Amino acid sequence: MAARKHKASPLPSVARSEWAGKVVIVTGGAQGVGRGIAEAVLTAGGSVMIGDLDREAGQACLHEWDVGDRAAFRVLDVSRESSVASFVAATLKRFGRLDGLVNNAGIAEAHTGPIEKLSWKEWSRRIDTNLGGVFLCAKHALVALRASNGAIVNISSSRAHQSEPHTEAYAASKGGVIALTHALAISVGPVRVNAINPGWIVTDEWRKPSARRKPTLSPADHAQHPVGRAGIPPDIGALAVFLLSSQAGFITGENFTVDGGVARKMQYV
Ligand SMILES: NC(=O)c1ccc[n+]([C@@H]2O[C@H](COP(=O)([O-])OP(=O)(O)OC[C@H]3O[C@@H](n4cnc5c(N)ncnc54)[C@H](O)[C@@H]3O)[C@@H](O)[C@H]2O)c1
Repeated sequence: MAARKHKASPLPSVARSEWAGKVVIVTGGAQGVGRGIAEAVLTAGGSVMIGDLDREAGQACLHEWDVGDRAAFRVLDVSRESSVASFVAATLKRFGRLDGLVNNAGIAEAHTGPIEKLSWKEWSRRIDTNLGGVFLCAKHALVALRASNGAIVNISSSRAHQSEPHTEAYAASKGGVIALTHALAISVGPVRVNAINPGWIVTDEWRKPSARRKPTLSPADHAQHPVGRAGIPPDIGALAVFLLSSQAGFITGENFTVDGGVARKMQYV
């Protein structure tokens, strides 16, 4: 029998070739996971506008990255609508277009103590920043993202699905991010909207120079992960770049857990 000839179907364009001239906002991009995402976009060949509350950290990024005019920084508070509106306007003034929005800024400390003692102020601070910030940034970036047929990536957390005691405000904020992600995806298509749920990401070496330090994890901290180690910001950056690219053009409304396999492990003691 004659061998059947298969004609390959067209593949999406290779990631690197599509990145030149593309512009991505990374909120909270001056440190930690956000800095890892910004660096992944720059490595792919794109440009980044980082917005962060911490001016010292943002300026340190521009000083340390050797990327010419492909990176810019501006102070941003994602929980204040006036700050978000002027940040997006400044991005468009600086780069002239917007192809991606990564909603990463957040209060990463999950533990807020027993709910009987949790103040409305601390509850609201996490909801307003971690969830409200995603709403405000999506709202103000949407016109530009529609014009470029762009994409949004929201950083949620594995804590949207699993909890330790006394993490109610953080868990609720991150569960909200996943729901907001699929709601937005249905409303704003063809702009695509996806979420990443990071597990334990060790950020000590991605901080501003004055706060940077060597991680102090124990062998057991690493070994509890089926992949044998805790995560680092580039683990999240790699998926964010893929989800922003045309290679992910048929993916929207989804959330992807990146936790070294922890959530898939049976937990009998
Ligand atoms: N590190 C982890 O293990 C982990 C795990 C799951 C999810 N996450 C999520 O990833 C994101 C980043 O976490 P991280 O560990 O890198 O935290 P981080 O504290 O190291 O960095 C957060 C950055 O966001 C900035 N920021 C905080 N509030 C802001 C605001 N209102 N407006 C603008 N910028 C603001 C901070 O100045 C800081 O530079 C958060 O949304 C966090 O919930 C982190």
